[in-house]
Amino acid sequence: MNRKIIVLTAAVLSFVMLFSSCKEEGTDETTDVDIITEGTPEQGSNENNEAEQTSEAEETTTEEPATEKEDEPVIIGTVVGYTSKGFVISKKNGITYVDGVLVANKTYALPESYNPGALLSECERAFSEMKSAAAKEGLTLWNASGFRSYELQQSLYNRYCDRDGKAAADRYSARPGHSEHQSGLALDLNEISSSFANTAEGKWVEKNCHKYGFILRYPRDKEAQTGYMYEPWHIRYVGVSVAEKIYNSGLCLEEYFGITSVYAPEEETTVLYEETTAVPEALPEETTAVPVIEETTEVIITD
Ligand code: DAL
Ligand code: ZN
Repeated sequence: MNRKIIVLTAAVLSFVMLFSSCKEEGTDETTDVDIITEGTPEQGSNENNEAEQTSEAEETTTEEPATEKEDEPVIIGTVVGYTSKGFVISKKNGITYVDGVLVANKTYALPESYNPGALLSECERAFSEMKSAAAKEGLTLWNASGFRSYELQQSLYNRYCDRDGKAAADRYSARPGHSEHQSGLALDLNEISSSFANTAEGKWVEKNCHKYGFILRYPRDKEAQTGYMYEPWHIRYVGVSVAEKIYNSGLCLEEYFGITSVYAPEEETTVLYEETTAVPEALPEETTAVPVIEETTEVIITD
C-alpha cells in the first residue's frame, strides 16, 4: 500500500515537472514570434516567411545591439527583410531602403531608369545651409560633382577601368547603378582629393556635416565595410536624425545598419567596361575630376 502511494506520488511529481518545462518552451516560442512579426505590416505570407527567415538567421550573427530598434521602423514600400542589426529592409520602385534611408552600394543597386536629374531638393537645401555655415567661419565649400546619371557613371567607371584596371577602379568608383551620385543624395566636395582631409574645409566637414544631415560616406579604415577606400570629399545626405546617430556611433553606414557592400558573383563576371571602352571625348565639366589618390598608385604597383 505504502509502495503504491510512493509510486503514485512520483508519477504525479514527474507529470508536474514535465508540464512546467513544456510551458517554458512555449514562452520562448512566443517571444520569437513577437520579434519576427515586429514591423512587418501588410505582407503576403511568402514575404513574411522570407522576412522571418532573414530575421532569425541574422539575429544569431548580431554583434552590437541596435539602439534604433526601439524607435518605430520607417518603411518605404514593401518589407523584404531585416538587416543583421534588426533594421527593416524595404523596396519601392526597385530602390532599396533601410529604415527609410535609400541605400546604394555594391550590394544594393539603383534601377538604370532611376534618374532624378539633379540633387534632390532636401540635399540641395542642406548643402546650401552647410555651405553658409562654413562661410561664416571663413571656409569655402563647393559642389564638385553632384548628381550623376547611370550613363555618366558608366562613362566614368569605364574611363577609370581603362586607366587603372578594373580591380583598382572598383576600390574608388562605383559601377553604373551602384553609385550614390545617381540617387541625387550625394556630392563630392572641393578638390575631390585625399588632400581635402587636411584642409581647414575638410576638417570642418568631418566634424560638422552631420549637423546638416550629411555623413562622410566612405570614412578612413572602412574599406572592408563600405567597399570603397577613404573618400574625405564624398558626403551623403541621410537627414539630421540618422546622420547624428551614425556620427555618434563612429560607424560607417554599412556597420550602423548591419548591411554588406559586395558585388553579387554574377556582377563579378560581367565585364561592363569592355563593352564600351571608348572614352568620351569630353565629360561634363563638373565630373571630369578623376580622384588623385595615393592608394590608387599603390594598387597599380601591387596589382
Ligand atoms: N566614388 C564613389 C564610390 C562613386 O563612384 O560613387
Ligand atoms: Zn562621390
